[in-house]
Amino acid sequence: ATRRPAARGDMAGGHRLLLENAQQVVMVCARGERFLARDALHSLAVLEGASLVVGTDGFIKAIGRADAIQTLFSEETFEERIDCSGKCILPGLVDAHTHPVWAGERVHEFAMKLAGATYMEIHQAGGGINFTVEHTRQASEEELFCSLQQRLQCMMRAGTTLVECKSGYGLNLETELKMLRVIERARRQGPIGISATYCGAHSVPKGKTATEAADEIINNHLPKLKELGSRGEIHVDNIDVFCEKGVFDLNSTRRILQSGKDLGLQINFHGDELHPMKAAEITSSWYSSDNQAQTFHLERHQAQLGAELGAQAISHLEEVSDEGIAAMATARSSAVLLPTTAYMLRLKQPRARKMLDEGVIVALGSDFNPNAYCLSMPMVMHLACVNMRMSMPEALAAATINAAYALGKSHTHGSLEVGKQGDLIIINSSRWEHLIYQFGGHHELIEYVIAKGKVI
Ligand code: NIG
Ligand code: FE
Repeated sequence: ATRRPAARGDMAGGHRLLLENAQQVVMVCARGERFLARDALHSLAVLEGASLVVGTDGFIKAIGRADAIQTLFSEETFEERIDCSGKCILPGLVDAHTHPVWAGERVHEFAMKLAGATYMEIHQAGGGINFTVEHTRQASEEELFCSLQQRLQCMMRAGTTLVECKSGYGLNLETELKMLRVIERARRQGPIGISATYCGAHSVPKGKTATEAADEIINNHLPKLKELGSRGEIHVDNIDVFCEKGVFDLNSTRRILQSGKDLGLQINFHGDELHPMKAAEITSSWYSSDNQAQTFHLERHQAQLGAELGAQAISHLEEVSDEGIAAMATARSSAVLLPTTAYMLRLKQPRARKMLDEGVIVALGSDFNPNAYCLSMPMVMHLACVNMRMSMPEALAAATINAAYALGKSHTHGSLEVGKQGDLIIINSSRWEHLIYQFGGHHELIEYVIAKGKVI
């Protein structure tokens, strides 16, 4: 047995967990970096023959050479110890973009797409998001909660310990709140960490224009979220809009995101997916002292728009322009790339290489939703490497520290460093790259998933 609870009587004081003698401990970063970009991606921090200690508070207490940890902690007690000989320890994976609360199967649409229908054709014929909205409106809160729990379980088994969860299949206030309550319940229950996103502007409800839908969100939905937030009933972290031709135009997008930002929500939205919308340009933030991007906007007479908004993250970006990439790099808005979307819809791949070369903070998400039924970040990293030409270190950083950055949580999540949350995975391989190299069958490879120092 490699995992043993410590002897009884050992439990008082001491520490939560000792992971001993791993072949590799992939810290990802080791100097408190909030994200990794450019050259920092070429050599992730990896320790060979190392051990790691998590305290009873669930935070990492020590990482170091196995003999050094043994000496330091020889007198200490642990609630649990795991012998990691021949195995690798990595940070828990972070999934920066999912739509996990919904009812109604859309496997029939997969068949339609295989037969040649495009995403927008199905959407405009009342399928796609609209189909899911109808079913989600009818579903009970309990039903939505149960299916969410099952999906989160699958994600955890595939190594995800922090996940962004969007609402967005209600569109009306009642169902959006139902979805956010379901997400809140899952967040309180744990053990998976959740970053909650209000995505009421995921589609324009039937019979409304984008402007009317934006008015409804700004005047009714957001004030209600504020009220529920101040009463501690629902905690929302991010605001999202599907900024797309035929969905929310640039102006409505700008108005909604700005109103969300005024409430203290982080901007994290769908941009430049199917058509170039200049979403990246207008929404990159301006806290950087570098005014190169600002000059660009002045040239384009968009200064007033660009200066208003700051986006923590923009997702998709299959159609982003060169100027959008430059603006994101300057503004440190992260790009959440979703390899499952381009794969499923046979779209052109987002230009990950160009973004990485320009210094954009690239993160990854599964985009789990009824269109892209993928709950596995190892699969996402594999697709990112093969289809978007990312290296394995780039993909791992994108699915850990940079994804945590996209959610504004990289000070506590996304790497194995002393003081960070004890979220990690142990794989049954002596080289960490197997987590990405292998495609399919990850449940056997990932031997332990640990959240806040507890095996789940
Ligand atoms: O990220 N692009 C918009 N939203 C989702 C798809 C949602 C759906 O089709 O249900 C996405 O791919
Ligand atoms: Fe999405």
